[in-house]
Amino acid sequence: MDHDLQDYLKTAVGVARKAGDMVKKAYCVDKSVVTKESYADLVTETDQAVERMIIDSLAEKYPTHKFIGEESVSGGKKCEWTDTPTWIIDPIDGTANFVHSIPYNCVCIGLGINRKIVVGIVYLPITDQMYTAVKGQGAFCNDTRISVSKVSDLKNAVVYTEAGNNRHSDTVLTKIENMKNIVFASHGIRCLGSAAVNMCMVAQGSGDAYVEYGIHIWDVAASGIIVEEAGGVLMDPTGSEMDYLSRGILCASSPSVATSISKIIKPLELERD
Ligand code: IPD
Ligand code: CA
Repeated sequence: MDHDLQDYLKTAVGVARKAGDMVKKAYCVDKSVVTKESYADLVTETDQAVERMIIDSLAEKYPTHKFIGEESVSGGKKCEWTDTPTWIIDPIDGTANFVHSIPYNCVCIGLGINRKIVVGIVYLPITDQMYTAVKGQGAFCNDTRISVSKVSDLKNAVVYTEAGNNRHSDTVLTKIENMKNIVFASHGIRCLGSAAVNMCMVAQGSGDAYVEYGIHIWDVAASGIIVEEAGGVLMDPTGSEMDYLSRGILCASSPSVATSISKIIKPLELERD
């Protein structure tokens, strides 16, 4: 079957803008917050309402398509990724930022066909930045083409990473040890509090790599294709091929930066999506 990827992009950009309006409205008022897997893993009514709206809007236009959404999975739906066109949605990536009125939060909508991501949209509603990519057609921010930096040596790189929201002490200590190793090998680390925002920064050359264990497919599907289409590389943090369900990601401006990071970090075993 032929797929009109530009039509999918156009539709999803419209839905992402509508979602962004909902996030922006809720950003300035008091939020009611509930915790999920740990006291640092947060969800608000806005996350849930935005996800419902995105799924309802896309399902109306594409009734045969499937969905993986963060809040649906939290609510008990199975995370099933098949060859059928599947929209992968994080209604708000950076929910803790949203709760604390930090502007680095975004709506993420990715589309997988035959288990390959072919369209990605990351929209930051507070700063009105719309990052998009379609397989083979480049990456853009607000319609301006973006590309990764030319840095190819880790010692000249800035690396994004995150402590994440898991609060098991072994996990946190391994992450801190990994951060220490990266600091000693590079120009430094940055943590913006959203996997997708970190990846858009790498895609536009504002920093050179991002690595994290603990992410889910919805945090990185849309931003993954944005990094690739901007000329960057994606892999598993162990250095093996990228596996969107494996809970880890390493992306960089060049393969040499990525493999240098991979060699100095300890792996974390996490339950697959
Ligand atoms: C989280 C953010 C955070 C990352 C976590 C993610 P959420 O997503 O991307 O930066 O460290 O691993 O789970 O919960 O805000 O959608
Ligand atoms: Ca989220």
